[in-house]
Amino acid sequence: MNRAIVQAPMSGGPSTPALAAAVSDAGGLGFLAAGYRTVEQLVEDLAETRRLTAEPFGVNVFAHRSDPADVTEFARSAGLDPATARWSDDEYDAKLALLAEDPPAVVSFTFGLPDPLPSLPSQVWVTVTGVEEARAAAAAGADALVVQGFEAGGHRGAWVDREGRDDIGTLALLALVRAAVDVPLIATGGIADGAGIAAVLAAGASAAMLGTAFLLCPEAATVPAHREAIATERPTGLTRAFTGRLARGIDNAWMRAHRDAPIGYPELHYLTARLRAEARAAGDADRFNLWAGQAHALARAVPAAELVRLLADETRAALEDARGRSASALPAPTTAKSET
Ligand SMILES: Cc1cc2nc3c(=O)[nH]c(=O)nc-3n(C[C@H](O)[C@H](O)[C@H](O)COP(=O)(O)O)c2cc1C
Repeated sequence: MNRAIVQAPMSGGPSTPALAAAVSDAGGLGFLAAGYRTVEQLVEDLAETRRLTAEPFGVNVFAHRSDPADVTEFARSAGLDPATARWSDDEYDAKLALLAEDPPAVVSFTFGLPDPLPSLPSQVWVTVTGVEEARAAAAAGADALVVQGFEAGGHRGAWVDREGRDDIGTLALLALVRAAVDVPLIATGGIADGAGIAAVLAAGASAAMLGTAFLLCPEAATVPAHREAIATERPTGLTRAFTGRLARGIDNAWMRAHRDAPIGYPELHYLTARLRAEARAAGDADRFNLWAGQAHALARAVPAAELVRLLADETRAALEDARGRSASALPAPTTAKSET
């Protein structure tokens, strides 16, 4: 499998079978997001994707193993019903059993390293956000690592969410991970065009994974208010105010009002679920999560297949330009000045 453009799994709505299939059909690697889907929904998503494409695709699974958290105080201060908070493992075992029986080309994990890392007919990828995670995932036998930089939209894939994490940007993290492990790397975070893809390929990645860049495609189920925000130059920020887990989204009123939201995933996710669903339906962009990476203003509203082809052309052009510049931009060798 040699597909250098990977569409990131995006749970909570945007990822669809139509998006994954269009990307894979165009020569990229599409992904389904199993996160927050029931097992029955995942069965349907797999069947629908296979109906739409015969090409390989991946499925992403949440692998968090956090201790239950008490988010009652936050619920009261935010005017939410504490009884709606709950812990869930997102039906991890049942999803794994399904994927073992009906394997996609790739199964990727985020939010943790499953112990043991399952042995599946699929390639097994693990998201890492630091060098220690990369070493542990490689030692556990991951076939490839998704190296997620600080710029990335959506949740940080970190295995443990804690205060004061000093997260690293995509290029620096890629270089550090490359020096530490010897497995193929897929770089993700803030990559929105062919020049970005060329940059991570030149830096040693086997592929680039783009999330936000696909959010404006018609095949993505991104709601209109989210699309509008992505098409602006509004700043993004990191927040726990929607889910209790650090994530990057376009700054809005709910994020500003709850800058001190506690660590408490997935309890806080379920606590705010109704508020977010109502805000999405009402088009109220100040009260639901506008997940987006730092380069969101570069996202293009074109069909996914066209985007994959555009990105591939841009990548080739960027690599050629870079080769030309690296040859010509260096100072020409000077002849020794005549002695005076
Ligand atoms: C709306 C949205 C939802 C996401 N959901 C998931 C997910 O379910 N699983 C996952 O591994 N990563 C998820 N991510 C993170 C992406 O996999 C990827 O790391 C990120 O999009 C890369 O940064 P970029 O958005 O700047 O391209 C999500 C990102 C976004 C924007």
